[in-house]
Amino acid sequence: MDSIAKQIESVAAALSRARSVAVLTGAGISAESGIRTFRDTMEGLWKEFDPQKLATPQAFAADPALVSRWYDSRRQGCRAADPNPGHTSLADIERHLESRGGRFTLLTQNVDGLHQKAGSRNVVELHGSVHVWRCTKTDKEVTPGPEPFQQFPVPSPWGGTLRPGVVWFGEMLPPAAVEAAEDAATTCDLFFSVGTSAVVYPAAGFVAVAHRRGALTVEINRDPTPISSHVTHSIRGKAGEIIPQLVQHAFK
Ligand code: OAD
Repeated sequence: MDSIAKQIESVAAALSRARSVAVLTGAGISAESGIRTFRDTMEGLWKEFDPQKLATPQAFAADPALVSRWYDSRRQGCRAADPNPGHTSLADIERHLESRGGRFTLLTQNVDGLHQKAGSRNVVELHGSVHVWRCTKTDKEVTPGPEPFQQFPVPSPWGGTLRPGVVWFGEMLPPAAVEAAEDAATTCDLFFSVGTSAVVYPAAGFVAVAHRRGALTVEINRDPTPISSHVTHSIRGKAGEIIPQLVQHAFK
C-alpha cells in the first residue's frame, strides 16, 4: 500500500475533480469529540453495555425507564460535545462542491447531531437522532429542550410515552434515508467510508454499491475493517487528521 501521504495526494486529486461526493460516517468521526464508539475499544459502549438490553424495541418494552435514562444521558453528552476537524472539514467539502454546482451527500450512522453542528447541510441520519424523541402512542415527534428529562419513562404530551428517535436493532431504517443513501451510492463518482467498523447493514453495504459502479471508494478509518480490502484506497488514520489534509490538498 502507498504511504499515507501518497494516498492523500491521489484522493485529493480525485476530490478536486469530483462532481458528486457521498460520505458515510460512523462513531469513529465523533471519537475525537469525546463521544464513545461502540465496539472498537475497551471503552466502547457495546463493550460495557449489552445492546440487546438497551438498543432494541424489546429492551424498551421490558424496561422503558432504564432505556430512556440511558439515551437521555447520551443526549446530554452529545449536546455538550463540539464538532472536531473531521466534522468541520466535511462541511468544507460540501461548500466547495456546492460552490461549483456539484453534489454532496453526507450519510451518517451517528445520532449525535455533530455534523449539523459543524455546518453540514445535506445530512441523512440513517439511524435517526438522539435529539428527537417520538410518542409511542401517536408517533408524533418532539425535540426536547436542553434540560435532562426529570421523569422516566418520559411521558409524552399526548398521553403516551416518549422513546428516543433512533433506529434500534431489528427496526427498519427510515425509508426516505435509505432512498437518499441508495441514490447517493448509485450516482456519486467518489464515496468515502469514514470512522465505521462497516459491520452494521444496510449502512455498511452502500460503499459496495458505489464501488461496483466504478466510483472511486475511499475508507478513512483508524483500524482495518471488512471493507478495507474492497475499496480503492484504505487510509489508516484519524478522521480529524486525514480529512483536513484532503481539503488542504484538494481545494487550497
Ligand atoms: P463502531 O464502534 O463499530 O466502529 C467505530 C470505528 O471507528 C472503528 O472501526 C474504529 O477503528 C474507528 N475509529 C475510532 N476512532 C477513529 C478516529 N478518530 N478516526 C477514524 N476512525 C476511528 O461504530 P460504528 O461503525 O459507527 O447502530 O457502528 C455502527 C452502528 O453500530 C452504530 O450506528 C450503532 C451501533 O450499534 C445502532 O445502534 C443501531
